[in-house]
Amino acid sequence: MPAIQHLHALEILDSRGRPTLWATCTLADGTAGSGSVPSGASTGQAEAHELRDGDPARYGGYGCRQAVQHVNTTLNAALRGQHFESQAALDAALSALDGTPNKGRLGANTLLAVSLAFARASAAAAGQPLYAYFAGLAGVTTPALPRLMVNLFSGGKHAGGQVALQDVLIVPHHAARLEDALAMVYAVYQAAVALIAEQYGMRPLTADEGGLAPAFPDERTMLADAVRAIERAGYVPGTQMALAVDVAASHFYRAGHYHLGGQALTGAQMVAQIADWVQHYPLISVEDGLAEDDWAHWAQLRQTLPPDVLTLGDDLLCTNSTRIQQAIDRQAAGALLLKVNQIGTFTEALAALRLARAAGWPIVVSARSGETEDHWLADLAVGWRADYIKVGSIQQSERLAKYNRLLWIAATAPFARQP
Ligand code: PGA
Ligand code: ZN
Repeated sequence: MPAIQHLHALEILDSRGRPTLWATCTLADGTAGSGSVPSGASTGQAEAHELRDGDPARYGGYGCRQAVQHVNTTLNAALRGQHFESQAALDAALSALDGTPNKGRLGANTLLAVSLAFARASAAAAGQPLYAYFAGLAGVTTPALPRLMVNLFSGGKHAGGQVALQDVLIVPHHAARLEDALAMVYAVYQAAVALIAEQYGMRPLTADEGGLAPAFPDERTMLADAVRAIERAGYVPGTQMALAVDVAASHFYRAGHYHLGGQALTGAQMVAQIADWVQHYPLISVEDGLAEDDWAHWAQLRQTLPPDVLTLGDDLLCTNSTRIQQAIDRQAAGALLLKVNQIGTFTEALAALRLARAAGWPIVVSARSGETEDHWLADLAVGWRADYIKVGSIQQSERLAKYNRLLWIAATAPFARQP
């Protein structure tokens, strides 16, 4: 791999109009790579630190000028002229330059921007598509397309908070090809648009990830409406189109209780509530059914849910190997939601994936609610053979960029070629 010649960053805007980071890495042979990083709103407390300027007079404190400065001065000065044999070597140098356990000094957004730009530059230097480069990092010989979990309805922190349940997603789990899966998703989305116009008199206003967000009276109606939309599109719920939920329960957990639909549920009652949803609706995955530190009830939930329903950890795990190991030891989750910016570098995210895989857990690679038009996540899901990808709805270009990249990979990659 040629030495790093230059690192450069810019402050750009994400899908909420908030600043984020774009960085480019130029190598000594003239090849270059760039990329931009996403940002969450429904974040876990154990996520690595996201560096924001904190000046309330500029972008309400969300500015990224300090992060840009760190790339253009500190990191450029430290890494320029250096030769890194691998992504792992670069990422280790980034973590060492930060020197804190949670990227508290330079920021996980700063480090991920450089980790990503280096990955793209390395792939370009090797003449590889990015998914093949990611596959090489993970020792994957046959990359594969993930299945889709697509946001249909939103509540919680991604919408007006009319219901606590954050996301109801549709899962075309048996579609033979990506293009079939997307056409099915479109049909259900359009059926849902018609349904909410009739039922709530509402035009299709969308939440942060493109999900529809009418004033559902409660969580059950939100789930029942999703089933109705599947039926109206002409599919059999469960068989042809399943559901998933991101409960994001940390965000309505206060003082030992889950504040759901006007009730204050104990952990055991919340487990019973989720079991009831799973019994009545065709759910194949429950993400963050409980709060991020309610470890005991997580174990109870995993035991309660049928083995073919994912007990998926997002805020619980934060793509953090220490927390994943804890969840494995306590049998507190059964699947990993992987978000690279929760931990800061590709190498650490890969360590998280390996740990989860060794425990037999399925992997869901996920975007954030604040995204950019960059589509590296599609390559990551393919290269690392994620079981699912969760990108949001089939609305808004920052979401569609990832689906369109998957379509491009499906059409051009040797492993995906139709017979
Ligand atoms: P976030 O939410 O990107 O706003 O954190 C996504 C999720 O909870 O999965
Ligand atoms: Zn989540």
